[in-house]
Amino acid sequence: MKKFSIVLVLLVSLVSKALADEGMWLPLLLGQQVYNDMVKRGLKLTKDQLYSINKSSIKDGIIIFGGGCTGEIVSNEGLIFTNHHCGYDAVASASSVEHNYLRDGFYAKSKQEEIPADLDVQFLLKIEDVTKEVETALAGLTGTDRLKKQAETIAAINQRYSDPAQFIEGRVSPLFKGNQFLVFVYQRYSDIRLVGVPPESVGKFGGDTDNWEWPRHTGDFSVFRVYMSKDGKPAKYAADNIPLKPKYALPVSLKGYKDGDYAMIYGYPGSTNRYESSFGIRQKIDINNPSLVELRDMRLKYMFAEMKKDPAVKLQLASSYAGIANYWKFFDGETKQLLKYDVYGQKKAAEAKFQQWANGKADYEHIFSDWEKAYNDWRPYSKYRVYLIEGIFGSPLLAYASSLMQVEAAMVQKGGTAADIKKAIEAADRARAAFLKEENKTSDQNIVATALQMFYSNIDKSQHPISFFESIKGSYGDLKSEETYKKYASDIFKTTMILDDSKWKAFLSNPDATVLQADPAFSVASAFVKNWQGKYLPKYQVFNAANNDLGRRYLKGIMAMDTVKAKKMYPDATFTMRVSFGNVKSYNPRDAVHYDYVCTMKGVLEKYVPGDYEFDLPPALIEKAKQRDFGPYIDKAKNDLVVAFITTNDITGGNSGSPVLDAYGNLIGLAFDGNYEALSHQVAFDKDLNRTICVDIRYVLWCIDKLGGASNIIKELKLIK
Ligand code: ARG
Repeated sequence: MKKFSIVLVLLVSLVSKALADEGMWLPLLLGQQVYNDMVKRGLKLTKDQLYSINKSSIKDGIIIFGGGCTGEIVSNEGLIFTNHHCGYDAVASASSVEHNYLRDGFYAKSKQEEIPADLDVQFLLKIEDVTKEVETALAGLTGTDRLKKQAETIAAINQRYSDPAQFIEGRVSPLFKGNQFLVFVYQRYSDIRLVGVPPESVGKFGGDTDNWEWPRHTGDFSVFRVYMSKDGKPAKYAADNIPLKPKYALPVSLKGYKDGDYAMIYGYPGSTNRYESSFGIRQKIDINNPSLVELRDMRLKYMFAEMKKDPAVKLQLASSYAGIANYWKFFDGETKQLLKYDVYGQKKAAEAKFQQWANGKADYEHIFSDWEKAYNDWRPYSKYRVYLIEGIFGSPLLAYASSLMQVEAAMVQKGGTAADIKKAIEAADRARAAFLKEENKTSDQNIVATALQMFYSNIDKSQHPISFFESIKGSYGDLKSEETYKKYASDIFKTTMILDDSKWKAFLSNPDATVLQADPAFSVASAFVKNWQGKYLPKYQVFNAANNDLGRRYLKGIMAMDTVKAKKMYPDATFTMRVSFGNVKSYNPRDAVHYDYVCTMKGVLEKYVPGDYEFDLPPALIEKAKQRDFGPYIDKAKNDLVVAFITTNDITGGNSGSPVLDAYGNLIGLAFDGNYEALSHQVAFDKDLNRTICVDIRYVLWCIDKLGGASNIIKELKLIK
């Protein structure tokens, strides 16, 4: 009897431990699902303080920042903290070789000095369940018909919840792979200004070498402000707009934390697929990831060669380079971790268990055989898709050229009017201006040559756009030779009207489909796209719809299999607001190695390499660190400035910039990365090894105050000492 109860206690505690760290919880369901677990882990707040629609709560201080990050409000004058890599594009755009804020950093010492940034932020107003309405509309539908109807139904609901005059937008998110539909209603603000950013040598210290890895010594933060019109409404930029008066601003803690302390993160995780099938894992490992990695590797190499030579090119390509490099390393690491932990085997085991339950149940018993068939039908063509997206469109010129297919369509379609053509041409002209701003011809020309050659060598011959390659062979010779593609790419760049203002103007004033079709950049892009659209896109759509149906049924089955567990399930990330709770926590990445829960200024100095592209440091930082001028920001226990720390929280891309909060809801850091050992986290959460990497808020404040001299920013914060 005694033995049994011990086993029972052990089991129960194991289950609750596994539950506590894993999970991206919907804020409106915290109270029902996990609030008690949060309290057990150390939370000191009430349900209403976490999320409320009647009173202001923490959720009101959390924003979508730009296109894919999280930010938080930290003062009553609309001050925003987010990551350096989230503000990166805005900082690079605001910079010039003369005023190089990306390299040197920038702090506005008054509101007048803040720099308008071309981005917006969104506040979450409310969440409502619209599952019944969507399910009624979709009843009995499957496959591509269902996806089409789903898109229409969602569009109609979105419109009903939106009010453009008030900058309010409703967006339905399908959760649990389309078993639940919630509408999230946001208010968008578009007058956002850059307030402060550290030099890149602090904000991106360690570069891509340290990216996705712990220990990490990066001051990954930037500071912005949201403005509103004088009458308190969201508004486009206007010089006399005033700082937003927010519903909620997070207090900032100078107290620090210990290993094991409670930590929670609010934010916008982009996408996970925790119930991915074993077939999907194989597809990633065998085809999608390696293809993406080899193409990005090639593009990065050509871009970096030009960035190193010229600071103007560095500024021009910096943001695009960082984005490509970030997910190049991610997908490379993901494959390694998937193999190391045999995630394929784990999925197979889970599927075998499901199959046992499903046998004899008509709705579920054929899921895996159907799924296998869907993958088998699609797999032979799947590499083409990656090569199109990451290879052909990996060239900015060819990506832009492919967008001109819309101009072509307007010109050749039956019944197309002059007005349609004019509209398409004007859009193309605006897009060209944006493309040219970021176009570096040397690297792009190299990318075109190598991407074409790689396509030729690595994609099955039967899938090639045959007449395209035949014509290159006719004019340039051997398709196996690098020289052929180099000469061809060089001619494209010399003669395309896209890169020639006078030819382009002539085309605009007299748009003619045959002129467009004869353009060398356009004809390359359209050869690959039309071949895809004609032969392989339909196959992809069939696969995608089947994958969607089967995934939805699998998840429905999992919830039916264990209805108690189903009550405590969280939906996959969909770039909607989530809360994760866990602890600050050290870990053992491999045998005999222990990683501490913090890293400090000592380590920054240890990594310093003068003049290095990734590990250089600002002289002022070295000086102040050597003087130990840490002020109130020092960590007494470590007797040093803590730079970064790790927690067990469950986050992913999109969470970047998210606030890390202590048990009282005070800001202790900003989440900015995940660790290498858990790069398989999108498809499988590892309860022992998963860590979130966070910059310590005291390091952020030290950089702003001591390095940047911007005490004006510190004065706005509500500091908890
Ligand atoms: N891995 C981080 C994320 O996805 C981005 C880090 C940016 N830094 C870099 N060195 N590329 O959130």
